[in-house]
Amino acid sequence: MAASWAAAGVNVTQQGQRRLRLLLGTARRFLLRSFRTAVAFQAEDENCVPEVVNVVFIDRSGQRIPVQGRVGDDVLHLAQKHGIELEGACEASLACSTCHVYVSHNIVDKLPSPDEREEDMLDMAPLLQENSRLGCQIILTKELEGAEFTLPKITRNFYVDGHVPKPH
Ligand code: FES
Repeated sequence: MAASWAAAGVNVTQQGQRRLRLLLGTARRFLLRSFRTAVAFQAEDENCVPEVVNVVFIDRSGQRIPVQGRVGDDVLHLAQKHGIELEGACEASLACSTCHVYVSHNIVDKLPSPDEREEDMLDMAPLLQENSRLGCQIILTKELEGAEFTLPKITRNFYVDGHVPKPH
């Protein structure tokens, strides 16, 4: 090493050479660590891109409203976010049936079966059908791509004064 510095015309003492070697080692470790961190962040970003799920709401007048949700969204809040009148009186705490929707027949079997509490609340929903579910309990997955959620003509507890629920 001293020979190469001498060949480069640099006059460095032994103590200076040691300091330079330490400095270069530290710089190398710093660059290596930064590189690994950057690679880890990039991999994390690629894994964290939320997946889009395209669904359609059919409102009480029969209008079809295509909406893009993300994996992990629940149907109640997705509807409210897009101004669709799905009430959700109990804020998704399974204490009402105002988030009642009909799920398209090709999709309903892809949902996990409703638990006992959801069944109990559905029993209180007017105009119940075999494909009835509570919107707040439907979590979007890629399997639900193309799902259609139809709002029943009436729900119990729905505001009658024209109030449009705001997303939370
Ligand atoms: S909002 Fe009440 S059960 Fe879904």
